[in-house]
Parts: sequence; structure tokens; C-alpha cells
Amino acid sequence: MILVTGGAGYIGSHTCVELLNAGKDVVVLDNFSNSSRTSLERVQQICRKRLAVVDGDIRDQTMVEKVLNEFGCTAVIHFAGLKSVFDSVTSPLDYYDNNVIGTHRLLRAMQASHVKRIIFSSSATVYGDPKFLPYTEDHPLKPVNPYGQTKFVVEEMLRDLSASDSTWSIGILRYFNPIGAHESGLIGEDPKGVPNNLLPFVAQVAVGRRDRLNVFGGDYDTPDGTGVRDYIHVVDLAQGHVAALASLEQPACIAVNLGTGRGYSVLEVVKAFENASGKPVPYEIRPRRSGDIASCYAATDRAEKYLGGWRAKRNLETMCKDHWRWQSQNPNGYDG
Ligand code: NAD
Ligand code: UFG
Repeated sequence: MILVTGGAGYIGSHTCVELLNAGKDVVVLDNFSNSSRTSLERVQQICRKRLAVVDGDIRDQTMVEKVLNEFGCTAVIHFAGLKSVFDSVTSPLDYYDNNVIGTHRLLRAMQASHVKRIIFSSSATVYGDPKFLPYTEDHPLKPVNPYGQTKFVVEEMLRDLSASDSTWSIGILRYFNPIGAHESGLIGEDPKGVPNNLLPFVAQVAVGRRDRLNVFGGDYDTPDGTGVRDYIHVVDLAQGHVAALASLEQPACIAVNLGTGRGYSVLEVVKAFENASGKPVPYEIRPRRSGDIASCYAATDRAEKYLGGWRAKRNLETMCKDHWRWQSQNPNGYDG
């Protein structure tokens, strides 16, 4: 039985599909602070299999211990956390509370229950300003915002834990920019309020919920002047977790990038989305967004080496088509 914290969220729900399809039993623990229960109904609809759901908070150590013991969990995939860079700047204590204290309590509960296998959702944001590209996993870690700091602190906590007790198996997965949706169009990203990230915003423009995209910066040192990112299909990312679970049989603590290794600019993404959707995406070049970097993409060799040959397979066209299917079938998200 695998405990998936934050399993109702965007990446968690796609990972639950891949886990169920791989024949794993799953229990989701989520407080639904940024997700809908409907996502988990849809996961079960896609897989025609059941999963268990517990409505609770990872900071409740006693409850987490109970869940680990009662369900006989052997590993944890830990997605639960807050993820808005912008909010983390205005409410840093909420971010340290949820992401750092939350993970600390979860690890305590795991230790008490003798469950010592965890996969943690980290982020490329831990690297900070690039000293070189692509980012390899041994690039210096220097996050530039509170959200990134919380990911860095948790990574350090995990490395210290592994150094103190070599029986832990710890996979730190550093995601680049996950986009897209399951090919069924039944699950996808459903941000609350105005989206911060590019793809949800572009998709909401295409579907008519917003007038135009603000492109943050047209004067970066990139081929067309707009920011370049390593977009990865969320299903590839989800499959990376199943691969990591299998390759984490032996005790270790390892950090691995999950990206494609290839960057696309904002304008390339806009064009690809227009092609995939058949809808125009009007945009306006605006000033740079504070804290953004010009380019960000992953070195993928370590993932291929340590994740049993896993690599991202889906291209930008598929990412946009799948994102659009989800958006057009669910124009107002899960509960709209
Ligand atoms: P999401 O917000 O869709 O999912 C997170 C889930 O965790 C939600 O269902 C939320 O309700 C739940 N949650 C939050 N705090 C909780 C708590 N204290 N107890 C129980 N449940 C809680 O986010 P996502 O995009 O699926 O991201 C999942 C993880 O991956 C996060 O840790 C995020 O920081 C990390 N990550 C995401 C991205 C990205 O671009 N989406 C990039 C890098 C890393
Ligand atoms: N962008 C726009 N307009 C928008 C939104 C974004 O032009 O409305 C641009 C950004 O300036 C950037 C690119 O689109 O050049 C991607 O921006 P996102 O906000 O989608 O993604 P980021 O790369 O800034 O950050 C994301 C997650 C972080 C995570 C990071 C990992 O939001 O949590 O990827 O690389 F840490």
C-alpha cells in the first residue's frame, strides 16, 4: 500500500492513475486546501479501480501514524504542500508551516511506524539563478524565494535523516515545469483564482475565460526574448514516480531532475497551444516578472541512469493537445 499525500492535486491525481495502473494499492491523504474530491472520483473512473481517501492534514502526526499503520503502508509519495512562489513571498510562515513542519511531522510519523521509503516533490527552483545550463543535480542550490527555501530545507532534512540512519530510501525528485493532462480529459490542473503559471493562463485565454495573456518580459537573452522553460507532460512526470518507487528498493538518498532536457520560449508555447486548440491566444509583452530567470532546463542523464531507463516521451504538441482537451471539457475546472 502506498500513501500518497496531496494525491487529489494536479500531479498527485495523475500519479495515482499511474500507480493504480501499475497494480499498486493507494491511500490518498489530502486536506483539500487546493483541490477537489472530484479529481479522485475521476481517477477511479479512469482506472476502474478503487483507492482509499483520508481527509486530513500531514501536520497531524498522530493521524498520519494511524493511517500508515491501519493501511499497512510500505512507502510514501509526498506531494502535499503549498506551491505559489508569489504567495510564499507575502505569507512565508504559511509556507514554512505547511511545507517544512508538515514534512517534519510526516517523517516523524513514518519513523514511528517503521515506514522508511519516501519520494519527495522538490522543484527546479532549488537551483536558483543558473551558474550553468542545463542544470545538473550537483548544480549549487541557492533558492531565491521562500517557496524554494522550503523545498531546500526539506531536501536538507532528508539528507540529514539518511546520513543518520542508512536504512531510509529517499528519492528527491526535482520537477521542471509540469503541464498537460491525462489523455482522457477527465483530470487536469484546476488552479483556484487567477493562475500564476503560464499554461493554465494560456488555456483560460483560449477557452474565453480571460482576454489576453501578459507575457512577462520580451527582452531576455533568449532566441525570441521571452523566457525559456523545460515543460514536461504531467503523465511523464507521474510515470517517473512509479519508476522511482521501483528503483528505490535499496536504501539511499538521491536527488533526480524530472524534465525533458529541452526548453521552449513563452511565444513557442503560445503558438503550440494555438495550433493544438485551434483558438487564438492574444498576448501583450509586459515588463519582466520579478524573480524570473531567462532560461531553465534539466540535465536528464541521472534520471535515465537511476530511474530504470525512464525518460519523458511526450512532446510539446501532445502536452498542449492534452491540456486543451481537459480545459475545453472542463472550462470551469472540476466543480464549475
Ligand atoms: P497541488 O496544489 O495541485 O497539489 C497539492 C495537494 O496537497 C493539494 O491537493 C492540496 O489540497 C494538498 N495539501 C496541501 N497542504 C496539505 C496539508 N498540509 N495536508 C494535506 N494535504 C495538503 O500542487 P501540484 O502541482 O500537484 O504539486 C504537488 C507537489 O509538487 C507540491 O509539493 C509542489 O510544491 C511540487 N511541485 C509542483 C510544481 C508545479 O509546477 N506544479 C513544480 C515543482 C514542484
Ligand atoms: N509567464 C508569462 N505569463 C504568465 C505566466 C508565466 O509570460 O501569465 C512566463 C514566465 O515569465 C516564465 C514562463 O512563462 O518565463 C513560465 O512561468 P511559470 O510561472 O509557468 O513557471 P516558472 O518557471 O516561473 O515556475 C514553475 C513553478 C514553480 C517551480 C518552477 C520549477 O511555478 O513552482 O516552475 O522550475 F518551482
